[in-house]
Amino acid sequence: MAQLWGGRFTKKTDQMVYDFNASIEFDQRLLSVDIKGSIAHVTMLAKQGILTNEEKNLIIEGLKGIEKEVEAGTLLITKEYEDVHSFVEANLIDRIGDPGKKLHTGRSRNDQVAVDMKLFTRESIKGIQAAVKKLLLVLNQTMKENLETYMPGFTHLQKAQPVTLAHHLGAYFEMFKRDYERLEDLHKRMGTCPLGSGALAGTTYPLDRDYTAKLLGFDGPTLNSMDGVSDRDYLIELLSDLSIIMMHLSRFSEEVIIWNSNEYKFVEIDDAYSTGSSIMPQKKNPDIAELVRGKTGRVYGSLMGFITTMKSIPLAYNKDMQEDKEPVFDALDTVEACLELFAGMIETMKFNKDRMKDSAMNGFTNATDVADYLVNKGVPFRDAHTIVGRLVLYCLDKNCSLLDLSLEEYQKESSAFGEDIYEAISLKTCVDKRVTIGAPGKDAMEKVLKIYDDYLTRI
Ligand code: ARG
Repeated sequence: MAQLWGGRFTKKTDQMVYDFNASIEFDQRLLSVDIKGSIAHVTMLAKQGILTNEEKNLIIEGLKGIEKEVEAGTLLITKEYEDVHSFVEANLIDRIGDPGKKLHTGRSRNDQVAVDMKLFTRESIKGIQAAVKKLLLVLNQTMKENLETYMPGFTHLQKAQPVTLAHHLGAYFEMFKRDYERLEDLHKRMGTCPLGSGALAGTTYPLDRDYTAKLLGFDGPTLNSMDGVSDRDYLIELLSDLSIIMMHLSRFSEEVIIWNSNEYKFVEIDDAYSTGSSIMPQKKNPDIAELVRGKTGRVYGSLMGFITTMKSIPLAYNKDMQEDKEPVFDALDTVEACLELFAGMIETMKFNKDRMKDSAMNGFTNATDVADYLVNKGVPFRDAHTIVGRLVLYCLDKNCSLLDLSLEEYQKESSAFGEDIYEAISLKTCVDKRVTIGAPGKDAMEKVLKIYDDYLTRI
């Protein structure tokens, strides 16, 4: 037990209490940001004349040495230390002696851990954004290749109107684009530095908080020291943003699973991204999509768990807040892996274009277009709706599609039908006529893809 706070105590900490209280097993991930924060802190202390330059240089050299040795595996982080902060400080003192004892001047572990978590998550957000961007690039490329890959669009999981694969994937592009931007917003909102808040009430030392904030890449210092040490909103926002990403990935996974089913056969997942069964030799299962869908629950769990932890904590710092780390680390790891795997799965997936087209051709996805045709010939929409409803019923009885009907059959229902009906309700016309921005028509999609291309060069 190497503790930073033994002075006031007469008895040793109970071992179970020590273990329960310790966070070293998981907060060791903060080592590098903890050292970064400490270097900024002592640099500022020296600038303010609180430490000598010599002391500052010794401390910085010692801190860098610790980081290097841990990275090289020659210095082990062990359970003997309560947390990563104790580990660094104790090792520094071992290494450089008395000057090491000055590192914690004008600082508390409360503002130290607050700045560590903010630094760590600010960096991690960039990693998640890079993974989202990778997926956006894959989607953008796949869209370009499938501007004329027709497929049914669904509502209520019932065939509705024909769309293209590019258009369908474009809906996901929009979702992940919003996800990217949400993270960007969060990163900006996380621009204030809590270092210098002390335990809760600032310090009596003449710290230059603007300077440390700048050294650490923040826009400026937090403006209330009690909030500085106890604000974890940004972690809840991060977990929310990550949960929304998972919700999108899960919806997409569900579609991939449906598309990959024997009944649909819209896609074939690449061998590298599927798995077999131990008993049924014919099986090729969409495990990655299923796992991504499954792990969504785990990320939601992290959000629900931690937002609940925070709900009744009085100001300012309380040990409950140590519970921020595991859910945040787990959610970051999970989402990054899911995004990467998902992008790879989509990139290598084979789209069965004929099967998609056939599916769009039947199921009366052009029924609305038949009604619109009649409207163009002067029939009121409500009457046109009824006429087409009757035609659909007739087709169901004959087990054929609207394109299979003869002109006489059409004209039995309305004299407004002419030879041009077939052209008007062909799959290509149904899609390409939809040219307003945001619609699946090729012209509209090409305009949108230009906007996406430009967006991807800017992010
Ligand atoms: N391990 C603690 C945490 O993660 C560090 C802060 C400890 N502060 C304290 N006053 N005990 O929150």
